[in-house]
Parts: sequence; C-alpha cells; structure tokens
Amino acid sequence: MVDLIVGLQWGDEGKGKIVDLVAKNYDVVIRSQGGHNAGHTVVLDGKKYALHLLPSGVLNPNAVNVIGNGVVVYPPQLIKEIKEFDKNIKNRLLISDKAHMILDHHIAIDKARERLRGKNAIGTTSRGIGPAYADKIARAGVRMGELKDIDKLIGKLSDYYEMNKGYLEYLGVKIPDINDVKKQLIFYKEELFENITDTTKYLWDNISKNMLLEGAQATLLDIDHGTYPYVTSSNTIASGALTGSGIPPKKLNKVTGIAKAYTTRVGNGPFPTEESGEEGERIRKQGAEFGTTTGRPRRCGWFDVVAAKYAITINSCDEVALMKLDVLDGFKEVKVGVGYERNGKRLDYFPSDLDDVKPVYETLPGWDGSSGARKWGDLPDNAKKYIEFLEEKTGCKIKYISTGAEREDTIVR
Ligand code: GDP
Ligand code: IMO
Ligand code: MG
Repeated sequence: MVDLIVGLQWGDEGKGKIVDLVAKNYDVVIRSQGGHNAGHTVVLDGKKYALHLLPSGVLNPNAVNVIGNGVVVYPPQLIKEIKEFDKNIKNRLLISDKAHMILDHHIAIDKARERLRGKNAIGTTSRGIGPAYADKIARAGVRMGELKDIDKLIGKLSDYYEMNKGYLEYLGVKIPDINDVKKQLIFYKEELFENITDTTKYLWDNISKNMLLEGAQATLLDIDHGTYPYVTSSNTIASGALTGSGIPPKKLNKVTGIAKAYTTRVGNGPFPTEESGEEGERIRKQGAEFGTTTGRPRRCGWFDVVAAKYAITINSCDEVALMKLDVLDGFKEVKVGVGYERNGKRLDYFPSDLDDVKPVYETLPGWDGSSGARKWGDLPDNAKKYIEFLEEKTGCKIKYISTGAEREDTIVR
C-alpha cells in the first residue's frame, strides 16, 4: 500500500510535520522529486530538525528512507545530513542509481542566470535545481550510479565542460579544474556508494509493505501545472511522485494534501490573495514565516479556495491536512479568497496564467485560543466554522488540523 503527502500551495505547508507524524505507520518513506531546495521542518520535544534531502521519516527509527530516481542529489548536502542525523541512518537509506547529481557548476549557473534575469528573476533557492534538471532533460546529466566508474565519469564531464565552454564563459562561471572534480567524486563515492542501488526494483520487491511518498515543493510550483515560469523544475504533483519513484500508478492508495490555513509563497511570481500590508506582516510574524532553506521572508496572504480546489483535483486528494491554524489566532476577522475576477468577469477555475487576476473575498469572524488544541472539541467555535467553511468550499474533507509545530499539536478527525 502506497500513500502520498503532497503540498497544495506554494510550498512550506508543513509537509515535514505531517510526514513525521504518520511515519510510524509506514515501513518505507520516499522522496521522489526536488532536491535540497526543499526544507522540511520536524519539531520533536522542542528540538527543531531541518531536512533538505533526507526524507522526513528519518526521525522514526524503523522506517527505511528512499531517495528516488526523480530527486536531484547534491552529494555534499546529503553527506552533511547523514552525519547530522546519525541515528543509524546509513543502514536504512537507499539512494536511486538513476537519481541525477547536482554538481557545483549547476549551482554557479543557477546563481548567474538569476543575476542576468534581473527584475525577471524567479527567486530560486540558488541550489542548482533548474540547471541539474535541464541537463537531465537534455540527456547531459550525471546519475548517482555513474559513481561506480570515476574515470569514465571524468571523461564524460571533461567533454561536457568543453561543449559548454562558451555558455559557461558567457555566464561568468569558471570551469572547474578536472582534478579537483575527480577528488570530489572520489569523496562522494566513498561516502555514498554503499547506499546507491536500483530503488525502483527495491520498491517493487517491497510493494506489499506500507510506503509513504513525501512530496517536496508543492502543486503551484509544478513545472507544468504551476505558475510558470515562477515554478521549480520538477513535477511536484501526485503523478510526478510516481515518475520519480517508479511506483506503478495503480498502487497509489491514499493522497493527503497539505495546506496552510492561509497562504505563503517564497520567491517571485503571482499570488492573488497576497496581503502586502499590516495583516500580511502579522501573519508572517505569528507564523514565523521565514524560509527553512534560505531564511528569506515568506510572502503571506489569505487561503485561496480556487487554487486549493485546483490542487485537490489534480492530485486526486482523499483528504486535507490544514496546518498552522493557530497562526490566525487573535485576528478579529479572517478573509478567504473564494473566487477570482479578471476584467470584470468571474473565474472559478485556476487559469493557466494569473495575469490581471483579482481575488474575490468572503470575510469570516476570527477567533482566539486554537493554539495547541489537540481535540476538535477544544477549538473555538469560529475556528470550527472556518474549517467547515473551507471543507464546503473546497469539497474535500479536512482530516488533520495542526495547531502548533510539535507532533502532538494535531487534531485527527
Ligand atoms: P514543509 O516544507 O512543507 O515541510 O514546511 P516547512 O517546514 O518549510 O515550514 C513549516 C513551518 O511551520 C515549520 O517551521 C514548522 O515547524 C511549522 N509548523 C508546522 N505546523 C505548524 C502549526 O500547526 N503551527 C505552527 N505555529 N507552526 C507549524
Ligand atoms: P518545500 O519542499 C517553498 C521555490 C523558490 C522559487 C521557485 C524555484 O520546503 O516546500 P528552485 O530553487 O526550486 O529552482 O526555485 O521555487 N521553492 C520553494 N518554495 N518551499 C519549497 O520547498 C521550495 N522549493 C523551491 O523559492 O520561487
Ligand atoms: Mg519548506
């Protein structure tokens, strides 16, 4: 049985917390796309863990953790996380031999391209994600399994640097000394090779076990279905999790969509329900909305029903986890974007571009004191009404309500 956790907004919904909460029910936790642009926070007994490449199941001592073929792996980051987490992680971590590698030049290209884009910058995490996926699609990438033959890999990379010389010079990216690259690759191999395997085969062989796919980024950052070009470079939606792991589509069981009780976005691009004034600032402060990966302040705004319905449909969500409800404590009123308007016309569907789109709001009475609630009955009445309103408008059951960063601050309905 394979279940999936997927972000419904622009990322940072609290996927890490929910994966950690439910990981005890699973034998295997799998990352299937993205790279160390992800930042998944797990808070356990007051201690905060930030995971970028390791699946958020690692804090649960029994789960096997898989980094699937669709992930782009920056080996130094993975090596660092393995050391940080210890907990016997080397014995229960599998890395796909088909996963592509992020090399230092990808990071330099990412930064250079953002610089050249100027005011049209995407606002990437500068982790080399886009350039690594671009090389994968151009069939010029390097896979983790290729570490088995360093000399062959070095030959391939020398050709790559030669072929891309003009482009790299144009970007101001220095071509690395091939001997230094070789030393790096030897180090990566020493540290990681024993964990590299055909994870597709592993997952098929173990398909009768309980498995959890952990989404990274989120639906509105999907390369095809998100707010292009202000997106990440992978398919973040449910179907991407299948491509990125090799799990056969009919094996997918339950899909849980993760959404905040409001909306945030890091980086540039359209955001119809953004609140740039005082209320947005208040959400940012109460929600500590600063990026886990880059520390950038997150842009904040109200819950967007149109975007949520789109995300729930494209991912075929069975249920939703509504996160950070406590952050709205103390607001006299809360707004919900229930529709869009463009040139005076009402839109009830999330369009392919958000040019000139304005939100249509409904205002609901606020509440106080939801923070730390662990039972439905402990929630203030107006908070309950808010949740029921979102359920009615999105047409999807809200199964989990999160009222604090700790594992236990969760209502399961
Ligand atoms: P992810 O990328 O989807 O895993 O989310 P992040 O970890 O980047 O961001 C979510 C942040 O909110 C983290 O700092 C979590 O510890 C925190 N968080 C998660 N759930 C709650 C909640 O219900 N209330 C509050 N106040 N914080 C939460
Ligand atoms: P988690 O998994 C929020 C955003 C970046 C930028 C765009 C492209 O923690 O939810 P990239 O470096 O991927 O090329 O940047 O995508 N972005 C995220 N925003 N949470 C994330 O991951 C993100 N990963 C990428 O801010 O706008
Ligand atoms: Mg995050």
